[in-house]
Amino acid sequence: MSKTVLVSGGAGFIGSHVTVELVQAGYDVVIADNMSNCDETNYKGVCAILGRELPFVKMDFCDAKAVRDLFAKYPIDAVIHFAAFKAVGESVAEPLKYYGNNLGSFINVLEAARAKEGGCNVLFSSSATVYGEPEQQPVTEQSPRQSATSPYGNTKQMCEDILRDSVKAYPGLKGIALRYFNPIGAHPSALIGELPRGVPNNLVPYITQTAIGKRECLSIFGDDYPTPDGTGQRDYIDIVDLAKAHVAAVTRMLDGKMKAGYEIFNVGTGRPCSVLELVKAFEKVNGLKLNYRITARRPGDIAAIWADPSYANAELGWKAERSVEDTLASAWAWEKHIAGKE
Ligand code: UFG
Repeated sequence: MSKTVLVSGGAGFIGSHVTVELVQAGYDVVIADNMSNCDETNYKGVCAILGRELPFVKMDFCDAKAVRDLFAKYPIDAVIHFAAFKAVGESVAEPLKYYGNNLGSFINVLEAARAKEGGCNVLFSSSATVYGEPEQQPVTEQSPRQSATSPYGNTKQMCEDILRDSVKAYPGLKGIALRYFNPIGAHPSALIGELPRGVPNNLVPYITQTAIGKRECLSIFGDDYPTPDGTGQRDYIDIVDLAKAHVAAVTRMLDGKMKAGYEIFNVGTGRPCSVLELVKAFEKVNGLKLNYRITARRPGDIAAIWADPSYANAELGWKAERSVEDTLASAWAWEKHIAGKE
């Protein structure tokens, strides 16, 4: 009998890609989302890719009763928890909104999961932000976490700790935290992708919106970092590769292959890429010129971070495969797809 995975925040950018990969790997998926930061585009895209509708529940994970009812209705074997606010700047302006929502919803999920007869598996979407500005590159799962510089980053650290402590205390509960580096790109079908509201904070949506003419000019935030070309370096991971890491992690949990009740994996490529390198790669693969200029550093940005993904490679049997060129071509195809719908 196939296993059921609940994807909270399943109508969002990462959740929709993970849903597609889970279903294609043979899992039953229930999507739940309050649609507070997205519309139906990605849910419809998921259904179009898979050629069928999936169970979809519009609900808020801060509503404990709604979460309990969801667990009563569906035979949930594992939860992948994406439902959270994610804007760093907004979290500084409205910390209580972030702590209330991101911690409250996760606690409700864990309460329902631990009460489930036969146990439950919980996968938490964490972030490389927990490493702060690393002293050594690449970062391994043993690299020290650093004090978060925003309430958003702090909720990632706190949720990791809540999961670790809950797994220790409640028999039957198992947990994995995946620490994502910088997810970019879109599904090769161009039917699902990132849909930032308003002016994008992240680099790749800003690039694609500039290329299509929605933004006049990309600002490259600083070229005086201690990096080879002076611009910031990140580990850009293809969204479909990232989604596949979730399938591998869920399968590890459900097959009883975990080495401890709580495990952490870096999900990255292991390759640093600078802002300028990414811009050049985007121009080359898509055959266009991007309007950009160098501006001041963005407050709060770090110079560089990239992953050592070897633990995930070895233990999950997973590896990032798509080239950055293919990923940037998919990001551009997606931007054109949504422009065509406007
Ligand atoms: N950048 C620009 N111009 C832009 C946007 C970004 O030059 O318009 C640069 C940034 O300075 C950085 C790189 O592009 O060097 C990547 O920036 P992103 O905003 O795309 O990604 P970040 O690495 O800043 O953000 C990521 C996650 C956040 C997380 C943060 C923690 O997207 O969720 O890391 O530092 F909180």
